[in-house]
Amino acid sequence: QKTLAEATKGKFLFGVAVNPQQVNGVNPVETELIAKEFSAIVPENCMKPQPIHPEENRYNWDDADKFVAFGEKNKQAVTGHCLMWHSQIGRWFFVDAEGKDVSPEVLKERMHQHISTVVGRYKGRIKGWDVVNEAFEDNGTYRNSKFYQILGKDFIKYAFQFAHEADPDAELYYNDYNVETPAKCDAIVELVKELKAAGCRIDAVGSQAHMHMNSPTLEAAEASFKKLKDAGVHILITEWDISILPSPYDGANIAANFKYSKEMDPYREAIPDSIQQKWNKRMLDMFGLFLKYDDVVDRVTVWGLSDNTTWLNNFPIRGRKDYPVLFDRNNQRKPVVDEMIKMAKKY
Ligand code: G3I
Repeated sequence: QKTLAEATKGKFLFGVAVNPQQVNGVNPVETELIAKEFSAIVPENCMKPQPIHPEENRYNWDDADKFVAFGEKNKQAVTGHCLMWHSQIGRWFFVDAEGKDVSPEVLKERMHQHISTVVGRYKGRIKGWDVVNEAFEDNGTYRNSKFYQILGKDFIKYAFQFAHEADPDAELYYNDYNVETPAKCDAIVELVKELKAAGCRIDAVGSQAHMHMNSPTLEAAEASFKKLKDAGVHILITEWDISILPSPYDGANIAANFKYSKEMDPYREAIPDSIQQKWNKRMLDMFGLFLKYDDVVDRVTVWGLSDNTTWLNNFPIRGRKDYPVLFDRNNQRKPVVDEMIKMAKKY
């Protein structure tokens, strides 16, 4: 077995987030790697509300159409990302002509329009949808988004109902980050129960898994898997990456840590061997956990092909370049991939 897609076959899908340049022929080297090395794809941006539906009566289908066709051509599982998210959504979605918040009825109708149009267009061609993204704060309370302000927590239920109505065969997912945080995980488990009690289809919880060198711990990640498994829901690792740089969310002075400093960007010239080894081990430890739970983990998706294209360059601190994914800046597969393949084969 030469690729992670092959090595994980029968265990889970192994996916990658892609951008339009990677499917429309602008970056052919990347196109080929994505087609060859992965069994699943998800669009990094082009299906989100803002890019696909920038104004009330205007949709941009071009990038999304090409993305779905690319996955079909390469026999990859295609995930839709994401239907309802407080970020990357036009302000028009929530306001009337005077700029005031719309009524609950109008927002519900706009959600219905958006979801039935987008899901309906690709009916039968998308394996599953991230229906709602990031509805919770890390402390387990509902995020005070426009959706929540106008419709309360029921906006989540409506989104799942509308998506199911538009494509009854598509799997439906709830997706969030820091799922390893106990209070947040508990809130998600509660949501899953409520959705099921209301008769909604929910197939899996997506754990984004944007990780750092020290957090989450392997134990915390496993504890979250246990809770989700016990709740009777499957798990997707939807946006996996491990930043090798110091995390500005850590440490004594969080606010100052978000400013560029040498201390926060220590590997500009080269990554010391010991740090690279630590990153490799962390990748392998997490990957081992995904394999251990392969009865409930249906897909593992890396958020970006290479260190060139990762969203973590310049985020959350401008001026930094990160090294969080499986291919390097020259589109070469990192040595850790061979280790992962070996590990998957043993399972
Ligand atoms: O497409 C425009 C382009 O027309 C414009 O010229 C350019 C100028 O800034 O911006 C382009 O849009 C950018 C877009 O990525 C495409 O490159 C946005 O500014 C930028 O904000 C956007 O960032 C994306 C981010 O979501 C938005 O919040 C990242 O690429 C994407 O990786 C990231 O993905 C999210 C997941 O969807 C949900 N979970 C968290 C994850 C990381 O934030």
